[in-house]
Amino acid sequence: TYEQDGPEAKEIANYLPYFPFKGIPRFYDIGGFLANPEIFQKIVDIFSTRYGDIGIDAVAGLDARGFILGPPIALALKKPFIMMRKEGKMPNTIKSSEYDTEYGKRSGLTVQKDRIKEGDRVLIIDDLVATGGTLSSAIQLVKACGGTVVECACVVELKMFIDPPAESGLPSRTKLFND
Ligand code: PRP
Ligand code: MG
Repeated sequence: TYEQDGPEAKEIANYLPYFPFKGIPRFYDIGGFLANPEIFQKIVDIFSTRYGDIGIDAVAGLDARGFILGPPIALALKKPFIMMRKEGKMPNTIKSSEYDTEYGKRSGLTVQKDRIKEGDRVLIIDDLVATGGTLSSAIQLVKACGGTVVECACVVELKMFIDPPAESGLPSRTKLFND
């Protein structure tokens, strides 16, 4: 774990302090470690060690940046990779309800029918968790298919969304996950 402003963190989750994006003062991106094969490999190794022997049937990655991180982890674990795409990109899908993110409302994640089988133990991978809206939507899809979510795993966590004071106006991830 690296603290958000430490020098190591910048190698993993770059942010551009003078370039606010879509109203957000700090836009974090995994471009940092993608440009560094040693760190990228280390991250894949950490995840595949953690999930190597706890009975995962499939790895689900979330459109779009979970599509970068999920496949090397699935390959290391020798398990199928399942795409959870944003709406309108694939045929024969089931869809989650719309969800909130730090950027606002999204219309829903989709997964193709029969990719997740009844009783499958699924690991959900994304690059970053902020409000948790995207992960909640993915959890909903796994459950709708009859699967179980073993864990959700990301490289970057934006702590400001865990339990923000009411006056900040930020959504609370703790509340969302409890609901
Ligand atoms: C970003 C990020 C996470 C999500 C986290 O995705 O990659 O998936 O936001 O925010 P949340 O916890 O508030 O839901 P986004 O859809 O913005 O971009 P992407 O298509 O590049 O992954
Ligand atoms: Mg994303």
